[in-house]
Amino acid sequence: MTLELVGAAKRFASGGETVRAIEDVSLTVGAGEVVALYGPSGSGKTTLLELAAGTLHPDRGTVRFDGVDLPTLSPAEATAYRRSLGFVFQRFHLHAGASALDNAAMKLLLAGWPPGRAKQAAAVWLKRVGLERRARHPPSKLSMGEQQRVVIARALAGEPKLILADEPTASLDTERSRAILGLLTEIARERSVGLLLATHDPDAAAFADRVCDLRDGRLVARPDHRPTATAPAGDRRT
Ligand SMILES: Nc1ncnc2c1ncn2[C@@H]1O[C@H](COP(=O)(O)OP(=O)(O)O)[C@@H](O)[C@H]1O
Ligand SMILES: [Mg+2]
Repeated sequence: MTLELVGAAKRFASGGETVRAIEDVSLTVGAGEVVALYGPSGSGKTTLLELAAGTLHPDRGTVRFDGVDLPTLSPAEATAYRRSLGFVFQRFHLHAGASALDNAAMKLLLAGWPPGRAKQAAAVWLKRVGLERRARHPPSKLSMGEQQRVVIARALAGEPKLILADEPTASLDTERSRAILGLLTEIARERSVGLLLATHDPDAAAFADRVCDLRDGRLVARPDHRPTATAPAGDRRT
């Protein structure tokens, strides 16, 4: 798996002005690699994830997944590509009326899997994130951290090669953020899934193998290309 952006740019017209959301960004995410997109609000993180998801097309440069230019995909191929990804966003987007298991299985059900198989696959992931005993609970009966674990199970069900995470721990306190990021990065490494993690939190960025500093849509050099800090091994467990 390789996600590759080369000289990508994305501008928006906004009230007669041009917003340079992404300017000349080149980066690569490989299998099992955890890459943080680190920058303040408005630096272009979400726009870059949308380019990676193929929901936005670059004005200049290229965005490729396994050598395929995403803007050249047909609508059906683009949908299939997005279904092949895992998404972990700040807002959970869980269905209030569905159990944790049904939520975890949702992506597979939408992709047309037989319900039995979809739930079986989702149950394996619920167990992996430590929620097997909560499978029947609706989101309202789960804590914020548990809800985010359901989202992670949903993202992993169907075995994506790439996970796009947008501020996945913005709603959580420090301790729960660390637990969730530890789990997510551990699974990515263990399953050789690429993880592109957008965050404004230095503590979250520290979980990455590589940190890309984004400012005003541009990558800025980081002296040693390593996270500012390394989370102690104990913090990576959940
Ligand atoms: N659809 C849009 N129309 C106009 N401006 C946008 C749109 N999406 C994003 N922007 C602008 O692009 C810049 C980057 O936004 P965004 O990618 O959301 O940054 P971040 O996720 O880092 O907060 C911001 O200035 C934002 O206002
Ligand atoms: Mg954002």
